[in-house]
Amino acid sequence: MDVKELFSDKVKHLEGSAIREMFKLMAKPEIISFAGGSPDSALFPNRELAEISDRILKEQGPLALQYGVTEGYTPLREWVVDRLSSQGIDCSFDNTIIVSGGQQGIDLAAKSLLNAGDGVICEEPSFIGGLNCFRSYNAEIYGVPVESDGIDTDRLEEILKAHDNIKILYTIATFQNPSGITMSYEKRKRVLELAEKYNIIVFEDNPYGELRFSGEPVPTLKSMDKSGRVVYFGSFSKILSPGMRIGFTTAEPELIGKMVICKQVQDVHTPVLTQMIAHEFVTNYSIDEHISKISKVYGKKCEQMMSLMDEIFPDCVEHTRPEGGLFLFCTMPDGIDSKKLLNAAIERNVAFVPGATTMVDADKVYSSFRMNYSMASEEQIDKGVRILAEVLKDALAAL
Ligand SMILES: Cc1ncc(COP(=O)(O)O)c(C=O)c1O
Repeated sequence: MDVKELFSDKVKHLEGSAIREMFKLMAKPEIISFAGGSPDSALFPNRELAEISDRILKEQGPLALQYGVTEGYTPLREWVVDRLSSQGIDCSFDNTIIVSGGQQGIDLAAKSLLNAGDGVICEEPSFIGGLNCFRSYNAEIYGVPVESDGIDTDRLEEILKAHDNIKILYTIATFQNPSGITMSYEKRKRVLELAEKYNIIVFEDNPYGELRFSGEPVPTLKSMDKSGRVVYFGSFSKILSPGMRIGFTTAEPELIGKMVICKQVQDVHTPVLTQMIAHEFVTNYSIDEHISKISKVYGKKCEQMMSLMDEIFPDCVEHTRPEGGLFLFCTMPDGIDSKKLLNAAIERNVAFVPGATTMVDADKVYSSFRMNYSMASEEQIDKGVRILAEVLKDALAAL
């Protein structure tokens, strides 16, 4: 039997993430990988989490190991509401739920809102997990370029004017994955005006927002939202641990209600044990100190990578200058295919994410690539960027 013939319309066009495929290559110990998107595992608060887990299992085992409430472990949900409120977001217990990572929040909201053929606008470049989620609902995806201060709002309006099927704009407005770019305050205002004018919903995906290491904070779109148009996705993955699979979503209560029903179908609830551990960590250990510590490390690594690139990369190769998050984005002159460059780099034991995997039409040729600086050590950044400079020079010479 050829099971491929039985695949549903929702999944038959989906390709496995090139990033996932690369994880296999990255497992080779000799590879210096700038391709992943994980936080630095050396920064996980292992000792504290071990203490907490031990205590919870000894003292509250029956609660931690039992089925839980789909909407989330109440104390953690309350903590998230307080935290978001302190960041200027108008939210309440009833419109905020815990999900199994920000990714699940995006999927549940998309599932609740999208019919096949509905339009979703995505930034270009964007996060593959978001793109694949919208693809899996057979949405029509429209790409809008990201400029140095965020999405191109003129192009956004052109697309909104030209198509009447658009329901959602998906944006990673702060320390964007993959570009590291943050949308300016002026553009955030404009995005919300356009959302109002064209009656669309904005998905604000913000897993990196707390990881600022330079520059001034910019308010979230959700905190500027006056009409309940913004669905906000947050996560503990980058500030605490991705393996614990905890995220949160805040949106209009009616949408949250549908998402809860869909979550019951997907995984019933996010594991109570990890929610309890996270709650104990954020209340009794200093989460702000932890975030400040890890952000400093990421800032240092980012600076090291950028200065070395400035020094030794060919002048025609440009890169973004992130003020937080885990990624920067490089753009080479047209004509260099970053997928081919990746093959050449892998031969020399260096990996990155080629731009194509971050674009709406992944089959075109792109001269851009994403570099992650959170996982590599200082020595690896130094060695890997130097090798990459050589690979780039060879590619330019062959043009
Ligand atoms: C932009 C963006 N959104 C969402 C996620 C999903 O994060 P999680 O499901 O671990 O919270 C990621 C993970 O890399 C991401 O980069």
